[in-house]
Amino acid sequence: MILIILVACLSWTGYILACTGRNYRRVWRARPEVPILLSVVSLGEPLWHCLQYLRPATYNDRFSIFFQLHRFQKHSWNFSDKYALHARYGKSFYLVTPTQCEFITADGTVAGEILSRSQSFAKPVGLLRKLDVFGKSLASVEGMDWKRHRRLTVGAFNDQTDRTAWDKALNRAAGVLSTWLEAEAVTSTSSDMAHISMDVLFQACLALNDGSILNRRTLEELVEFRRQCPTVNRTDLISLMLKAECQMDALPEKARDKFYLTPEEVRGNLFLFLFAGHETTANTLVAVIYLLAIFPSWQEWALQEIDHLLRDTRVDELPNYELFRSTKRLRAVMLETLRLYGPVLNILRETKDQGQTVSISNERSLIPKKTKVRINSVALHTDPETWGPDSLEWRPSRWISNNPPEPTSHDRPIPVDESYRTRMERRLFAWSDGARACPGKKFSQVEIVAVLIQLFRNHRVSIIPRPGQTLEQARMEAYERVQNSVLSLTLHIADPEAVRVRWDIRR
Ligand code: HEM
Repeated sequence: MILIILVACLSWTGYILACTGRNYRRVWRARPEVPILLSVVSLGEPLWHCLQYLRPATYNDRFSIFFQLHRFQKHSWNFSDKYALHARYGKSFYLVTPTQCEFITADGTVAGEILSRSQSFAKPVGLLRKLDVFGKSLASVEGMDWKRHRRLTVGAFNDQTDRTAWDKALNRAAGVLSTWLEAEAVTSTSSDMAHISMDVLFQACLALNDGSILNRRTLEELVEFRRQCPTVNRTDLISLMLKAECQMDALPEKARDKFYLTPEEVRGNLFLFLFAGHETTANTLVAVIYLLAIFPSWQEWALQEIDHLLRDTRVDELPNYELFRSTKRLRAVMLETLRLYGPVLNILRETKDQGQTVSISNERSLIPKKTKVRINSVALHTDPETWGPDSLEWRPSRWISNNPPEPTSHDRPIPVDESYRTRMERRLFAWSDGARACPGKKFSQVEIVAVLIQLFRNHRVSIIPRPGQTLEQARMEAYERVQNSVLSLTLHIADPEAVRVRWDIRR
């Protein structure tokens, strides 16, 4: 028996090494200018998937760094690693494992080029097939099909939709706040933000008021209901898609490929937009609220702007949508949170049957065919060369020029020459870039800012210590929780209910 186990282990080791060697040769033949890292850990393989839970008690850092094992044990390895691996091996390198060759980059110029060439660097849509439970969608198709889906869906996310999102978000945030004010300790921030985000999406995608309807009706029933009662002038997502579905018969044969969505694709896209917009926005809002509670001086800094913007708005009046464009500090708080705790850790692409060259340090460098490409957003967002020596610190003022690095007291007026660093946004890949960038970018920004304005216009939030804990300890514990966020489909704070907050009236 022992002999059989021994032979099996040796064969498996030999097989793993042979596969790694084969993949190494594939990259090496392209004579890359960048380092090649070897790892026998193949993420996605069931065995390694199990091993990620078996971190040995006698875990020895030097030993495991040597084998680069612990680094790649989880798909979210780059969230804990930040810029460290790139600081050691360079902005771009290859990671070769038994199952794949991966080109990993934290170089903004290289990332920009890859994302702008969507034909050459395709999205690995196979990974998104899980989302195809209802039918294919924008996120799971490529080439002409992708163009067709994009053309027939993203028109729903226009200025009118953003205004609707603004009003709905203000309205829902006011409702949630009123329940929070009755509670001594609020632990439902995460689920409440998820409800707000779902309701806002329901309004935009289905022109329906209430996201909880999904608990009572299936997605198929909702689509069927709207198919039976078409709305002529509406531009919400489902109306646009059903119009494309209805018009099919009237279209000439040639145009059918371009302007038609099948009933499965209508359902698939509806599911995708609800799914893609829901967690991402809600997780960001939870992180923002917790960080503002953890760092009261940054909260005061943001409140200063809200008070300034709403100085002419009556207490019972809803803040105007036009205010969105005037926000600087609130947007800074949102972008700084996305920089460090954005829900999407990597932007993935791949080369197909042809190698592709990219410009690395002004030299054209070949990325071999069938190579995975990972734009390491976490590393890009924590590179000290781009963001400064305090790149790991949550410091919203880095987005504002003419602003002191430390928050100023609430009584001091906002400097008149304070301006938002628009160009810095180009270094942020939270919503990706290029043709396949997130179509919900502006929509999510509007929603996040609206929720924050409504929550903080008359109130402030603070962390509640547990019995026997000082406020400082409670804040540090909550901060650790944010810093140790975990990845399931998107990055989120683990057990967010463990953070207890209180909302108080401030004026
Ligand atoms: C803070 C909020 C959000 C973040 C950080 C975010 C981020 C992203 C990222 C990084 C991608 C991948 C792009 C790529 O592969 O290049 C993406 C794709 C996508 N997002 Fe978002 N997103 C957010 C909110 C939303 C919202 C509100 C919606 C819907 C209204 C949405 C719908 C989509 C869709 C449909 C795609 C697929 C696009 C395609 O493949 O062409 N997202 N998002």
